[in-house]
Amino acid sequence: MTDLAQWLNRQTNDADLAQTIMSMAAAGAELAAVLRQAPIAGQTGLAGSENVQGEAQKALDVISNDIVLNHLKANSAVSILISEELDEAVDLSSQGRFIVATDPLDGSSNLDVNVTVGTIFSILPRAGGLLQKGSAQLAAGYIAYGPAASLVVRITGTTSVFTLDANGVWLLTLAAAQVPATSGEFAINTARERFWDAATTSYVRENVAGETGAAGKRYNMRWVGSMVADIHRILMRGGIFLYPLDSETVSKGGRLRLLYEANPMSWLVEGAGGRSTTGRQNILDVEPTDIHQRAPVILGSSEEVKRVEDWYRRA
Ligand code: AHG
Ligand code: MN
Ligand code: MN
Repeated sequence: MTDLAQWLNRQTNDADLAQTIMSMAAAGAELAAVLRQAPIAGQTGLAGSENVQGEAQKALDVISNDIVLNHLKANSAVSILISEELDEAVDLSSQGRFIVATDPLDGSSNLDVNVTVGTIFSILPRAGGLLQKGSAQLAAGYIAYGPAASLVVRITGTTSVFTLDANGVWLLTLAAAQVPATSGEFAINTARERFWDAATTSYVRENVAGETGAAGKRYNMRWVGSMVADIHRILMRGGIFLYPLDSETVSKGGRLRLLYEANPMSWLVEGAGGRSTTGRQNILDVEPTDIHQRAPVILGSSEEVKRVEDWYRRA
C-alpha cells in the first residue's frame, strides 16, 4: 500500500510543504494515541480555562494544541501558527515559508461521550500575511479520530484519505474522494430553527417535506456535533452541512471559524467535487479581517449547495 510519504512525493516537488503535512500527520498519530487512553488518564474534563473565543477549554483542547505546537516547532518550514486555542498568532521559525492555521481539537464537547473528534489544519504561504483568503491555501487537511483514525488531505489535486495502521503509519485507503452531486442527507442543528434566516428555513422545510414537497424525494438528517465527523461522512457518501448565519450568531459573523474550520473544509470538499458557500459567496473568497473570524458555512454535495444558494438569491 502507498503510505503518506510516498503519496506526498508524487503530489508535490515542494519538500517543505510535504514535511509540514508530515508534521501534522505525526501530531495526529500522537494525538490518536492520547485520545484512546484519555478516559483512563482522566483527561476528558474541563481544563479550567477559557480560550480567546470565551469557550471553556477541555484538558484535551490544551493537550492537543501543545502536541501540534511541538511538532510544528520542530519543523523549520513553519513560520507562524494560528490556533483556535491561542489568542495570538505564534512566531515559530523565522526562515519558515508557511503559516499553519489549526483547530487542534474539533468537537471537543463530544469527548466525554467517546464520539469522533478531529484536528483541522490549513497551510498558507507566509508571504501572504496572516489574513489570507481560503483560495490562497497551499494545502489543507483534517484527522478524524473515529473507530479508525483517518487523515484527509489535499494539496491541489485530489482529496485523499489515509488510515493510521498499528505501527503509526498513514496508509492511503482512498486516492480520490468523490462527493456525489446529489444526496438525501442534510446536517444542521435544527434546535436553532427559531434563529434561522428565510433561505435556511425554506431549504430545510423542503427537505423535511420529502417526497410530498418541491424536492420530490425523502431526506434524512444527521448531526454529530463534531464538524470533522459530519464532513467526513459527507466526503465519503455525500450530503450537505450547514452552519448558516442566524439571528443569534449574526453579530459574531457566524459560529464556525473561517481560517481553521471553514476554509480547510471547503478546500477538501471542493477537491472532492463538492461545493462551498456562505450562502452569498464561495467560502474560499471571503476576505478575513481577524485570525479568529467566524463565517457562515454551507458545504457538500454540489446540487444540494446550489439549492441553498438559490434560496439565498430569492431571499
Ligand atoms: P470546537 O469543538 O472546535 O469548538 O468546534 C465545535 C463546532 C463544530 O465541530 C460543530 O459542528 C459545531 O461546533 C457544533 O455546534 P452546536 O453545538 O451548535 O451543535
Ligand atoms: Mn472546531
Ligand atoms: Mn476546537
